[in-house]
Amino acid sequence: MKDQYGRELKDLRISLTDRCNLRCVYCMPAEGIDFRPAEELLADHELLLLVRVAAELGVSRVRLTGGEPTVRPGVVDLVRQIAAIPGLEDVAMTTNGLLLEYLAGPLAEAGLRRVNISLDTMDPQKFFRITRGGRVEKVLSGITAAEAAGLRPIKLNSVVVRGFNEDDVVPLAALTLERPWEVRFIEMMPFGSVADFAEAGVVKSQEIQIAIEAALGPLQPLDLSGGEPARTFRLPSASGTVGLISPVSQPFCAKCGRLRLTADGRLRLCLLRDDEADLLTPLRRGATYDEIREIFRTAAFRRPFGHALAEKMFPQARVMIQIGG
Ligand code: 5AD
Ligand code: SF4
Repeated sequence: MKDQYGRELKDLRISLTDRCNLRCVYCMPAEGIDFRPAEELLADHELLLLVRVAAELGVSRVRLTGGEPTVRPGVVDLVRQIAAIPGLEDVAMTTNGLLLEYLAGPLAEAGLRRVNISLDTMDPQKFFRITRGGRVEKVLSGITAAEAAGLRPIKLNSVVVRGFNEDDVVPLAALTLERPWEVRFIEMMPFGSVADFAEAGVVKSQEIQIAIEAALGPLQPLDLSGGEPARTFRLPSASGTVGLISPVSQPFCAKCGRLRLTADGRLRLCLLRDDEADLLTPLRRGATYDEIREIFRTAAFRRPFGHALAEKMFPQARVMIQIGG
């Protein structure tokens, strides 16, 4: 399956819920958001049908996101059913890690291959502030549990926010000296009601790179051509790698082959634009499998190209917790 610009569509990110057990400053506004009532979210059988359609159309990799995917009731059984869909080679998850202490083993057993865990700082006070109340010890136990369960490679995602954690990039990058992890630094993106905050607090990858190199030595580039948004590097004699993800300063739209399914059953065609196709409504009105597949394929084909952050056109309809990254 390709879009109108010839980009091959092999990756689907599936938001399992719009809820989360944290409230990160860049992901939702301080006053919270209105969560959708359960009946407006995809039920397990609806979600599985849409993933089957996607796999039949050529999607081979899925990533489960949220909100926080592990808070969806019955997540382990759902993962088992997703992993059994023919054509899917890779089932991964992006999680805040809080519940991995308990769920890493069962999820791995159900067929989950690997996890990306969000970790913006290892300092308990700063973590509390950036997540509005979270305890970092839980995440660290979650990382240990993920490793023990064989969820590899472990990738850690760190959104860098000026005034919150920009001094933490050095200790986070230093984790890769000893551990075989990929620690990735992500430029904060502006969405809806947190757009002004995100725009004011963004720390560009170049600044992050300079800070890491000044403290820990040169970052040797590893793969600049691959299909991944992260540019990867290695510190001298490190066992893991450092990744820089630069959606703001170096957009990677030409290489982007991602589709996103929101928890309320919309196909989101670009992370940074509001274009979406409603799949839930036709599904509930009794559309046939073949009709759903046509709606999916036609929507995917019209994926737009490029975001307009430079012109200060920010996506308005959703904040990140409602998309899933
Ligand atoms: N900009 C960049 N990344 C974000 N995330 C959440 N909100 C933002 C934002 N505004 C990241 C989280 C997590 C993933 C789901 O998306 O840190 O790694
Ligand atoms: Fe929850 Fe992840 Fe958003 Fe933080 S970034 S509020 S952990 S969904």
